[in-house]
Amino acid sequence: MPEHLPLVIITHTLPEEWLAKLKGQCRLVSGPPDADHLAPELEKYLPEAKGFFTLLTIPVSEELLRKAPKLKVVSNMAVGYDNVDVGACTQRCIPVGNTPGVLTEGTADLTIALLLAAARKLPQAGQDARQGRWKTWSPTGWLGTDLNGATLGIIGMGKIGAAVARRAHVFGLRLVYTDTNPKPEIEKAFGATKLPLETLLRESDFVSLHVPLTPETHHLIDAEALQSMKKTAILINAARGPVVESQALFHALSEGWIAAAALDVTDPEPLPIDHPLYALENCLIVPHIGSATRYTRQRMAELACDNLLAGLRGERLPNCVNTEVYQ
Ligand code: DGY
Repeated sequence: MPEHLPLVIITHTLPEEWLAKLKGQCRLVSGPPDADHLAPELEKYLPEAKGFFTLLTIPVSEELLRKAPKLKVVSNMAVGYDNVDVGACTQRCIPVGNTPGVLTEGTADLTIALLLAAARKLPQAGQDARQGRWKTWSPTGWLGTDLNGATLGIIGMGKIGAAVARRAHVFGLRLVYTDTNPKPEIEKAFGATKLPLETLLRESDFVSLHVPLTPETHHLIDAEALQSMKKTAILINAARGPVVESQALFHALSEGWIAAAALDVTDPEPLPIDHPLYALENCLIVPHIGSATRYTRQRMAELACDNLLAGLRGERLPNCVNTEVYQ
């Protein structure tokens, strides 16, 4: 590797074609494919690293930044960036990149998949069929919830929330939402109504979370919120695990405060195999796969490469979360 090229740490091994844009532009060192923390063998590169390409599982902390004094850019291959201490990066004038837009449709697809699966009890029904409990066509077996005419409450009407609204509208769901700002275009297109959170929780048959994880949204769905929901309601979380208080959710599902939950994200992640939520039949859990389509993941990686290369060149990142660094 030519020594004059900037050194870039990629925290995980990723398919070569996803990183094609980096070829000849930098010296790359990568960690193992499934690392859930910065691989120890990468630590020694921190003092020289100019670029840090990371996934959402790796905390980019003040401590890590201190070990990497030459860092010019942090590129997170995710739209969410709660794993990055953005304040500490800003203080050091390090721009942080993320990958918005390209995972909107994939994540909205998965949200609807979770909603349908929970509404129609697909995991339970599938398991019953496999395990010999399908004795006959049962008029009262596996009864689910209709989407047509039901109310979906979308918490967070950003890009992904709006893509969920577009899909939900086609299913005949009535739409209500919360957001810091009104979204007149969504209201006009899909007849959505903006409501205070308490009203949305009270009125919705399905509640779907699409907010970033921030101090304000941490445990937004706590025991009080869950108790205010309909007993027949279904909660869907494809945002970030800690937006929901896990223990309160366990009580809500096991004591019948709400009917079911479908989770793409959990707190913690991965959810330990002996976690009580796994024991509940009315809790569907999948391993953070909202953006897991081949196309989406490749586009995320390419966008992360664009951010990384711009940062190495000292140019403005195409998607920068701390634009203050340019002031
Ligand atoms: C993100 O990009 O923040 C998503 O959670 C990845 O699926």
